[in-house]
Amino acid sequence: MKSIFNSLGSNYSLKFVSTSLWSIFFSRKSDVKKLERHLAQTYGGEVLSLYKGRDAIEACCRVLLKPGSEIITQAFSCYAVEEGMLRAGMKAVYADISRDSTNLTVESIAETYKKYPQAKAVLIQHSLGIPADSVAIRKWCNTHGLLMIEDIAQGIGGIDSTGKMLGELADAVIFSFGKDKIIDAISGGAVVFKVMDDERNERLIDVKKMVGKLPFSIVYEDLLYPDLTSFIRKTHHFGFGKVVFVLAKKLGLLGSPIKSKTDTMTWMHQAYAKLAVLQFKGLEQQIEHRKKIAQIYFEQLSQSSLKQGGLQLLFTKEELERSSNLRFSVRCTDDTQVKKLVAALKKNRIYVSDRWYRWSVDCGSYQCKTMYQNKSCPHAELLATQVLNLPTHREITPAIAKKICTILLENV
Ligand SMILES: Cc1ncc(COP(=O)(O)O)c(C=O)c1O
Repeated sequence: MKSIFNSLGSNYSLKFVSTSLWSIFFSRKSDVKKLERHLAQTYGGEVLSLYKGRDAIEACCRVLLKPGSEIITQAFSCYAVEEGMLRAGMKAVYADISRDSTNLTVESIAETYKKYPQAKAVLIQHSLGIPADSVAIRKWCNTHGLLMIEDIAQGIGGIDSTGKMLGELADAVIFSFGKDKIIDAISGGAVVFKVMDDERNERLIDVKKMVGKLPFSIVYEDLLYPDLTSFIRKTHHFGFGKVVFVLAKKLGLLGSPIKSKTDTMTWMHQAYAKLAVLQFKGLEQQIEHRKKIAQIYFEQLSQSSLKQGGLQLLFTKEELERSSNLRFSVRCTDDTQVKKLVAALKKNRIYVSDRWYRWSVDCGSYQCKTMYQNKSCPHAELLATQVLNLPTHREITPAIAKKICTILLENV
């Protein structure tokens, strides 16, 4: 069996890999327009497309909020989300996730709001694809006069509890088309503004003036990624890929996705837009596949022997059916059990050590200074030591999913 990874471009199709490197020559400005039209038609609003999801968060904050505003967002997240807010001069204040899920709730938002009654917005994300309760959060935001920003980087294709697609209830929708997201165009981000007025329109004009041009060197380097990772994955099991992997890391070609190559808002290059449009075409099929694999994990891992061994699932069957199932999260007893299971899978050339998330606000392998206050969100801190994410991407067949479950069963 070939090596299996959680990430490393594992969800790219052959067509994507063969298109990506050349898309710098064969893409047009009209590809950006095509992507923006698609987002505007699907989500209903004014679209701004940028180089990164965090650029989209920055632009969103600058247009919708005044500098210095507090935004409630969830712990058990990555630093990139906070980075976007900070760049716009906002303050991120953290709400805890619930005891048995990967998402914040109305109760934890209300708790945080008591401490930060000046907060002006709530930014929700649907961690690992599991839908947060956007219907209840929308009602709460309406009652308290806060904006609801919905970041669907991990949740594109998911559905809320009333059957509407995620993003539909939001005042603004954020997208990241970065590596290992549902729509993975190597990089890219967008914001759909759904509640504009004259003042915000003026601020949008000012924001557009601030956006810089992306250097070509970054585009070339990014577009190498699908070919490079495809080669690594295909040759990893007989050793060659391992060497290339180490070399690519040393050369900085496989840096932490949490660290952006830019630190100000930058326009999306047309090549990413072309790739994102290609990815949107396969969205339905992708969601179907991920759901099928998640259902297998769910059935196999709901067994009582696994519960006795300490593994718990973090969502219900009904939530799974509405999820994008970007990854399948399992709660272990502690960090030791996570490491034991990761090692057992590794012996079978299944590499899942890339975990979302290892800290309440995860900075990956680079140092960052988050506004998260230690011990303020105990559920997020605990889950970060216990979570194991299983892959659901296109390389996972039902047989591989069952094999992963068997290995877990033998090692809990
Ligand atoms: C929910 C969410 N939003 C936004 C981002 C930022 O994405 P980007 O890397 O495109 O800036 C991430 C990145 O991991 C994310 O997980």
